[in-house]
Parts: sequence; C-alpha cells; structure tokens
Amino acid sequence: MTRTTRRDFLVLTALALTGIGVAGCSADEGQGGATDDAPLAVPLDGSRTLIAYFSVPLTDSPDGMNQDEENSTHVVDGEVLGNTQYVAQLIEARTGADVFRIETAADLPLDFPVLEEQALQEQESGTRPELRALIPNLDDYDTVFVGYPIFWYDLPMPLYSFLEQHDLGGKTIIPFSTHGGSRLSGTVEIITELLADSTVVGNAFTISRDDMDDAESEVGTWLDSLNA
Ligand SMILES: Cc1cc2nc3c(=O)[nH]c(=O)nc-3n(C[C@H](O)[C@H](O)[C@H](O)COP(=O)(O)O)c2cc1C
Repeated sequence: MTRTTRRDFLVLTALALTGIGVAGCSADEGQGGATDDAPLAVPLDGSRTLIAYFSVPLTDSPDGMNQDEENSTHVVDGEVLGNTQYVAQLIEARTGADVFRIETAADLPLDFPVLEEQALQEQESGTRPELRALIPNLDDYDTVFVGYPIFWYDLPMPLYSFLEQHDLGGKTIIPFSTHGGSRLSGTVEIITELLADSTVVGNAFTISRDDMDDAESEVGTWLDSLNA
C-alpha cells in the first residue's frame, strides 16, 4: 500500500461522508451483496459450519458517537456491534453455525487515525499480528465463513495470520466483508491464492458500512443464492 492509495482512501472516505458516490473506486464490479450468481451446494443448516470473523468496532457505547465510531458500528437493540460482527450474527441467525471471533493478542487502538496508521504500517511491513487464540476444533468443520472489514484495499493483516496459521485444506471457505467503498477489493482472489488446498467460494458477500440497515435482507438473499 503506497501513500498514493492512502490518499485515495482518505478522499474516498471524504466523498462518502459528503454523499458523493464512489462507484468505480473498487476493483470489484457490480452492486448488491454477491459477486456472482453461481449456485453452490453448501450445507447451510449449521452442521459442521463455522463463522470466523474479524471486526473492530471503535466504541461499545451507543451514545454520543463521533463519525468514525458511527462508521465502524451498527447498533441493534442498544447493543453496539462492529459492522462485520453484525453480518456474522446475521449469518449465525440464519444458519445456526458456530462462531469464532478472530482477535489480535494486543488490543487494537480505537482511535481511527491511529488504527489507520498502524494498519498501514503492518501492511507495508507484511506483519502477521499475533492472534489471541486459534480455533481449537477445526476438524469439526467442513465449511468456514470468513468475515473481515476491508483495510487499505486488502485483508486486514490479522486475516493473513488467521489464514496462514490454520490448516483449512479440504474445507469450503465462504468469504464475506464490509467496506467503506472499496467492495471486496480483490480479497477473494487473495484468499483463493493463500488457500490453494481449499474450495474458496467466488460468490462472496460484501456490503458498505453505509448500507448496514439493509444487511439482514441482503445476507438472506445471498445465503439463498449459495444454494439456489
Ligand atoms: C484501518 C482501516 C482501513 C480501512 N481501509 C478501507 C479501505 O481501503 N477501503 C474501504 O472501503 N474501507 C476501508 N475501511 C473501512 C472499513 O472497511 C469499514 O468501515 C468496515 O465496515 C469496518 O468493519 P468493522 O466495523 O467490522 O471493523 C477501513 C477501516 C479501517 C479501520
């Protein structure tokens, strides 16, 4: 990630805040949740299925949020969730799958510019942040939904840690993400390259942080499309 792309994202954020569309800023084409309509035989009854996600809500208080905190959260019945965390919960509600939260061993900064800078430096140096825990019972699962926010047009670096430190070979991987304008930003291709021995579903889900009110219906439509 270069300083040029850093500026691009800052411009993109500013455009989003002013309500100006950002179509065309992303590597991914199309609108809506799914990347394509290819049907897929995935058991979505929750059996042997795990939802693993990374999410960084910048506050846990629903009151008096600043713009950065609002951008990173979705409030349900007074409970503050990260955007990706919320999508993970929607998938859990529909499938009954188990859930694993991917967390870094070190607490992340919750001040947006500080988090931004740390994420950029980790990306530029190829850092694999230490994870708080690994999935202890991966053998119990054949299908793993993998969820993440887009960081700097890429996977957050803790996702690289996660994907490299688990043996996901032979499993079906279903990516989903939330973003601030960059959509999937080539991350499905990255996951496919990293997990050469897994079946990575191309029909991934992505939703803008600005459209979280539509997430429940979009997730439902997407899950249906996986087995249509
Ligand atoms: C460090 C950082 C970098 C980000 N970079 C991008 C980006 O390159 N493109 C984009 O569309 N959104 C970017 N975003 C916005 C997040 O992808 C978006 O707000 C997401 O919904 C956050 O999900 P979460 O609440 O689950 O963490 C970035 C956010 C952070 C914190």
